Amino acid sequence: MNLLVTGGAGFIGSAFIRYVLSTRAGTRVVNLDALTYAGNLENLAAIDGHKDYRFVRGEITDQPLVESLLADERIDAVVHFAAESHVDRSILSSKPFFDTNVLGTLALLDAARKTKLARFVHVSTDEVYGDIDAPHEADEGFPLRASSPYSASKAASDLTALSYVRTFGLNLSVTRASNNYGPYQFPEKLIPLMISNALTGKPLPIYGDGQQIRDWLYVDDHCRGIWAVLERGAAGEVYNIGGNCSLPNLDVVRRILTFTGASESLLTPVADRPGHDRRYALTSGKMERDLHWSPLMDFETGLRLTIDWYRANSEWTQRVQSGAYRDYYEQNYGSR
Ligand code: NAD
Ligand code: TYD
Repeated sequence: MNLLVTGGAGFIGSAFIRYVLSTRAGTRVVNLDALTYAGNLENLAAIDGHKDYRFVRGEITDQPLVESLLADERIDAVVHFAAESHVDRSILSSKPFFDTNVLGTLALLDAARKTKLARFVHVSTDEVYGDIDAPHEADEGFPLRASSPYSASKAASDLTALSYVRTFGLNLSVTRASNNYGPYQFPEKLIPLMISNALTGKPLPIYGDGQQIRDWLYVDDHCRGIWAVLERGAAGEVYNIGGNCSLPNLDVVRRILTFTGASESLLTPVADRPGHDRRYALTSGKMERDLHWSPLMDFETGLRLTIDWYRANSEWTQRVQSGAYRDYYEQNYGSR
């Protein structure tokens, strides 16, 4: 099978490419990535020079480029990760989120339609469901109530993708995963930011009361789930992929303090995120029933593995935290 992976130099896309090339012999991967601040070819150093891998630097909004890749590389399936992915950045500046997440997805869908692509997996997020009151959990039929510009752009892309199934008969499935964590995650999201700051003795900024709840999914479990959907998912279906691990943020951060040995005094309450979703919760019953997938990693082991990785790869972190990262940090946290 020939796969086009978009956003394969990012956190989850690179984990997916490493997973595919190490477990699925006979699959060739073409990685289309614009290398934004979040894209990093170092994440793929392990497969550099692999005979079944090709990297193409380019924008998903560039439909002629996508069409020529689909045709020239005889692509059988697209797995679409490329996105602007961070809520706080979408609050600072929304437009890139709609350019990439909505118009970029549209360009891919049109290219897929024109070239009669056989299969498409659109990777999305549980954030499209918005706040969920306890004890409820969102299933795939739950209404979309996106709260942030990020989640609104993902909800728009989900609906557009699904419209191409109904209108044009595209063989496409949508995945909606909960919060991922693991090695190579850009240190702007909660877990890698807190690990990186704890390891270097910097303050750990807790938004509001720290009691917001997220469900945590180890990135390799997510990759296995996406593969299952690619192989066995049905057209027009949405699949929630969760980690069965709901925790308040402060609990997660306290575990990071314990496992890194950093001091409690680093905990620093800061002004809350505007429009902050209080609780995400989803059920992945459909993945379990229909595709026989369930998450395998327990949170303590996954978190320890992740901390070990950041400890062993401090140079990777230092490199991604140079220049533009400092400007972002000042913009997001400076006045909080
Ligand atoms: P990331 O920010 O780490 O990586 C995004 C990648 O997309 C980068 O390599 C970037 O260079 C590339 N990219 C951005 N704009 C592009 C464009 N216009 N053209 C080509 N490439 C472009 O993101 P991630 O955390 O790996 O998330 C991947 C996908 O999974 C996203 O669609 C996201 O919405 C979804 N998702 C993420 C999480 C999470 O917790 N991180 C959870 C559920 C779903
Ligand atoms: P984040 O990793 O940005 O993911 P999400 O897309 O779910 O918002 O944030 C996870 C949670 O952690 C969310 O409730 C916001 C909170 N948070 C902090 O308290 N401090 C921080 O510095 C960051 C980045 C996040």
